[in-house]
Amino acid sequence: MTLLRYAIFGTALLIGAASASAQGYPNKPITVVVPAAAGGPTDTVARIIGDSISRTLGQQIVVENVGGAGGTIGMARVAKAPADGYTLAVWHIGQSTAPALYDNLKYNVVDDFDSIGRITDVPMTIVGKAGLEAKNIGELLTWVKQKGKDVTYAHAGIGSAAHLCALLFMNATGVEMTAVSYRGTGPAMNDLVGGQFDMMCDQTTGTTNQIKEGKIKGYAATTAKRLKVLPELPTLEEAGLKGFEVSAWHAMWAPKGIPAEAVEKLSAALQAALKEAGVIERFASLGTEPVSPDLATPAALKAKLTAEVAKWAPVIKAAGAKGN
Ligand code: MLT
Repeated sequence: MTLLRYAIFGTALLIGAASASAQGYPNKPITVVVPAAAGGPTDTVARIIGDSISRTLGQQIVVENVGGAGGTIGMARVAKAPADGYTLAVWHIGQSTAPALYDNLKYNVVDDFDSIGRITDVPMTIVGKAGLEAKNIGELLTWVKQKGKDVTYAHAGIGSAAHLCALLFMNATGVEMTAVSYRGTGPAMNDLVGGQFDMMCDQTTGTTNQIKEGKIKGYAATTAKRLKVLPELPTLEEAGLKGFEVSAWHAMWAPKGIPAEAVEKLSAALQAALKEAGVIERFASLGTEPVSPDLATPAALKAKLTAEVAKWAPVIKAAGAKGN
């Protein structure tokens, strides 16, 4: 190729690159990493929000499920992804429990990420296989205390919301049960419906429809107040587990150092999504609601995460739980 052709080709490349970045963010599809299996609670939240953000930004959002190790494999993937705004994460309270659970975490949960904003605080429920004899939470607590280690429960890895909730439940009841670990509570739910294990603490985004269809038993809610979507379920507080309260707060992060323009556009698109009637309706049908827009900001998320890391470290230490 002659020198002249090289010059023309080189210039064309530069022009192409310049016009691509001049087009502004985003100018290609965005990948949202969900650190849990497809079909589960977090996948559901990511896809509902992703649809809306995709429409607002005029770019495709591709959800990639990277489950395992309580979400730390997926978050490590995002921490070291290019800081260009095209790889994001939707995860949850697990981001705040990971530091206390994993000694050799490959990232800093606060400093290695840019916060985009909070999404929703998903309530959790204590559920059991349809064949369990216990008819209500009182009978379930009696049974669990009698059976102890013979009771099998599932979680989505050490550090998952299901794990944290089960840890709090065992703490509150003084009973140690036997864990079955999955890459997400989506696949765990299939096995619970199949009666493969006894019980689980999982998010309403995963349990509401299964309970309503009678495929599993719903026993209690982990929130301070009863759930609008499942008003018949007592709270664990009502059942005598004083002060029991946990929900899986979800949020969006990016690798540290993405362009300010990308943070602004993503946060604005997230806030728009949280006000969208379709999103509000979908969330409500699954027992949750968007956070208020003032919490869907980078600053609010960073403050929440920092506070939660401090809150859960002593609880996890006292429970002696470890991921590695
Ligand atoms: C999931 O989507 O599988 C859950 O969020 C897992 C969990 O953390 O319990």
